Amino acid sequence: MRRLVAETTLEPRQLILPMFIREDASEPIPIKSMPGVVQHTRDTARKAIAEAASLGLGGVMLFGVPSEKDPQGSGALDPEGILNVAIRDAVSEVGDSLLVMSDLCLDEFTSHGHCGVLDSAGRVDNDATLEIYAEMGVAQATAGAHVVGPSGMMDGQVGVVRSALDAAGFVDTVILAYAVKYASAFFGPFREAVGSSLTGDRKTYQQDNANARDAIREVDLDVAEGADIVMVKPALAYLDIIRQVRDHVNIPVAAYNISGEYAMVEAAAANGWINRDAAILETLTSIRRAGADTILTYWATEAVQLLR
Ligand code: PBG
Repeated sequence: MRRLVAETTLEPRQLILPMFIREDASEPIPIKSMPGVVQHTRDTARKAIAEAASLGLGGVMLFGVPSEKDPQGSGALDPEGILNVAIRDAVSEVGDSLLVMSDLCLDEFTSHGHCGVLDSAGRVDNDATLEIYAEMGVAQATAGAHVVGPSGMMDGQVGVVRSALDAAGFVDTVILAYAVKYASAFFGPFREAVGSSLTGDRKTYQQDNANARDAIREVDLDVAEGADIVMVKPALAYLDIIRQVRDHVNIPVAAYNISGEYAMVEAAAANGWINRDAAILETLTSIRRAGADTILTYWATEAVQLLR
């Protein structure tokens, strides 16, 4: 009876697996704050991507962990930079059978760990960063990315990436816009995952969690600039925002079940305090129920197995 009347579905095609690929890794390196998640080598990434395709996931979202970082984040534009290489590997592995998505942001590549370049006063320089994002979008599309995910919360980022892709002839590349992104404590484990050197926070460019109307304004801007899918992030402390965004737009809505949300469940389960498998499915179902069409989750592969 429960199956007959269930209002919410959770299906493999609705899940996107975020993955970290580390430039100098000769074997997968465990991320301590995210038990079960690793920084992949190029080789193990290919295997995980092939598995994602065979399980029928909706896509993979790739993050690069470069061995050298600099203030400009130049590894992001280099065709031989780890993320661009990983995109090429992924596309050659799965072709069009799985959506290959890439994080379009500088924080993994900058020595200071910010999502953009800095001005002479040490502040994030929005407009100088936009020029780099435009080139980064083209570099990722050239590497074969089906979907690019601008995630740095610079004002105007979707518009510049859209124009640059169009100008370079990439008229089919999809923009998954991180439209709503709150300055959140739940990003903590991600810093370890990408070896971030950030000190301080991102409060000058990410949103204040006291504000909901602000989220709708951010979504409107991204839709006007040409976003194909809008994302809300984090997910669990923001289920109300996911619902408001779902009711506000008529394009697909994604939500990112982020590193800290993963870590909380894993830590409690490791202590025997909650039933891990049930908590995973309950978490993902709640994000779907709130209105997300697709979910980025580190449990994507495992959730498919739990659903069987
Ligand atoms: C920015 C980016 C971040 C995450 C995804 N893309 C870090 C941030 O905004 O601070 C976080 C993902 C997670 O915590 O799982 N490149």
